[in-house]
Amino acid sequence: MKVMAHRGYSGAYPENTMLAFRKAVEVGTHGIELDVHATKDGVLVVHHDERLDRTTDGTGRICDLSFEELRRFNAAKLWAGRYAPEKVPAFEEYCEWAAGEDIFTNIEIKTDNTYYPRIEEKTWETVVKYGLEKKVLFSSFNHFSLTRMRRIVPEYVELGALVEHESGVKVYPGAYCEAAGFQCYHPPITALSDENVRDCKTHGVKINVWTVNDMAGLEKLYSWDVEGIITNYPSVPMAWLAARK
Ligand code: G3P
Ligand code: MG
Repeated sequence: MKVMAHRGYSGAYPENTMLAFRKAVEVGTHGIELDVHATKDGVLVVHHDERLDRTTDGTGRICDLSFEELRRFNAAKLWAGRYAPEKVPAFEEYCEWAAGEDIFTNIEIKTDNTYYPRIEEKTWETVVKYGLEKKVLFSSFNHFSLTRMRRIVPEYVELGALVEHESGVKVYPGAYCEAAGFQCYHPPITALSDENVRDCKTHGVKINVWTVNDMAGLEKLYSWDVEGIITNYPSVPMAWLAARK
């Protein structure tokens, strides 16, 4: 089972910052999950929300600011007094760093509400520029973005279909992902049933689950033999897995 650090080691460091990514690597995480948006002038940046307000001392939407403007803000606002200011990373800065690390990256294309023109092409071009083609997978709640991605990236690059919490509608995630050309299903832990797990396994679809921050969830998912978990505290499952060897 692979461990992915959700927005980096976001349980103990400012989410989606280079500090959180470095700290996740220090505890041996297999992978890192991060979120990508684009600025007004088309620069890809790593940040979760569309707006800067919650996690930085800036305000407004990323798509309304230039990269230069966005870099003035402190992305470690929520940890003030504990950590020095951090900038919102350019996706390129992350890739340059990740190229030297033995990790893979789950790149979430954040086109949930705002659609950034050509974000799929630009993200892939950056991945190629830093030679990360074999060390990435792409995920998105916007399955149109994944369909576009499927046409851009080679077949060996995996795509993960993110879904939200249980809607009450019966889903067949394995059949759906196989038909759509998505290799992975990415449900929240609250929406994964053993029936869904069976459907994915029948169709050869891998399962990566978010956000797994407790031992009960970890143990259940391990017993279900899922491929990956996405956690805010990567040190915990890494230590737990090491102890099982
Ligand atoms: O990829 C899993 C998780 O990151 C999806 O939700 O809102 O944290 O991006 P969110
Ligand atoms: Mg995400």
